Amino acid sequence: MNILVAYYSETGNTRKVAEAIFASLRHTQKKILPVDQAEDLEPYHLIYCGFPVQHHGVPARMVHFLKGIPKGKQIALFATHGSLRGGEKALSAFFAAISQLPGQTIVGTFGCRGQVKPQLIDEWIEAPQHQAWAREAQSANGHPDATDLHDAGEFAETMLYAAENIHGSLKKQG
Ligand SMILES: Cc1cc2nc3c(=O)[nH]c(=O)nc-3n(C[C@H](O)[C@H](O)[C@H](O)COP(=O)(O)O)c2cc1C
Repeated sequence: MNILVAYYSETGNTRKVAEAIFASLRHTQKKILPVDQAEDLEPYHLIYCGFPVQHHGVPARMVHFLKGIPKGKQIALFATHGSLRGGEKALSAFFAAISQLPGQTIVGTFGCRGQVKPQLIDEWIEAPQHQAWAREAQSANGHPDATDLHDAGEFAETMLYAAENIHGSLKKQG
């Protein structure tokens, strides 16, 4: 199984999670790349795709990357966000990402918090469309932390296990 960890990150939070995912994959055929350097995706069976939640959704560069993934791949999505972990606000971004991936197998998703610059929070907390997540983001300092990165590693292993099983059963079916 050939694996790619592809990520988009503006301030480094999602990159840290991508690196934790990559490090926990006990596998020789693996690569980690920022999305704008990931060109030929054909050789990969499993692609981990990571992005920061922006405006409740997926940044345009990640949308472009997701749309370009050849059909028949297995995809594991991960994201960082200022809002609370496991909250509804972050979920909407995963739904937006999945809607860009018709015909692909989504093996799972992982989200954790990522700190936001205090100046940005101060600005956005005044804007009605940002207020809810910006309020939550006030307590995101220090994230992703060691627990987030540990959990990202566990997610990576679970996704690999699932993908190998799916891959194996597809092969058997011929
Ligand atoms: C332009 C912009 C929009 C954002 N919108 C949201 C949002 O809608 N919901 C949220 O929870 N966090 C939002 N955030 C916070 C980021 O998702 C969070 O800080 C993330 O960890 C940044 O990841 P990065 O360092 O990989 O770029 C936004 C950040 C920026 C810069």
